Amino acid sequence: MDVIDAINERRSIRRFKPDPVPREKIEEIVSLAIRAPSAINLQPCEFTVVIGEEKARLSRRLLKAYKERNISCSPGNVKPLSKRFTSRGVESFEGMKPYLDEMGYGFNQYINEGSCNFYGAPLAIIICLDNAFSKARLVDIGAALGYLLLAVHSLGLWTCPIGLITAYEDDVKDVLSIAENKEVVIGVALGYPDWESPINRFASPRDRLDAFVRWIE
Ligand SMILES: Cc1cc2nc3c(=O)[nH]c(=O)nc-3n(C[C@H](O)[C@H](O)[C@H](O)COP(=O)(O)O)c2cc1C
Repeated sequence: MDVIDAINERRSIRRFKPDPVPREKIEEIVSLAIRAPSAINLQPCEFTVVIGEEKARLSRRLLKAYKERNISCSPGNVKPLSKRFTSRGVESFEGMKPYLDEMGYGFNQYINEGSCNFYGAPLAIIICLDNAFSKARLVDIGAALGYLLLAVHSLGLWTCPIGLITAYEDDVKDVLSIAENKEVVIGVALGYPDWESPINRFASPRDRLDAFVRWIE
């Protein structure tokens, strides 16, 4: 698949079939993700691939943590956001709502519990960064995440990045025996979509180009 087609077609999927992903595919995906550039070629991404009963165990623990602590998906801002950003968040909520109504779910329940369960995907990839690095190296993780999402799409599978798991980092590290000095940066749900599910018809919009770009000539 052409890279431009992959960029245009990829979108987040929020209901997966349980069908397993062959190990060779997972190895190919990670091999492509690590082709991403990184500062001084330090290649700081560390991937933990979780499948089968271990993935089910991780999801159970995350759901339990969510029920106890009730931390929801949020932008994680450190100052109030400008209207431009908050309105994009509202637009996301409003865009998904008709599909979730059709399924009989409220937004918060579906997105938070769904994220904890990696939306039923058979496979979760957890990406970590050694805490010896500065926050500047999160850029390298972001680049690798982008490569991974597009590589997955080109190989006929689909994804949803799952940032919510970072709110329950201690649980993730405990269940997966991730070392104390690693920071959990992002998770990815990965698998084959359940195309029968209404939520998988949702496609997020983007703002117009001039809302992103300032030209200086
Ligand atoms: C860093 C990051 C964290 C995200 N965390 C979550 C999450 O916890 N749960 C979820 O349902 N979607 C999550 N998403 C998916 C975004 O909501 C999604 O990418 C955005 O709405 C744009 O839609 P698209 O991926 O379909 O283009 C995350 C995306 C990114 C890049």
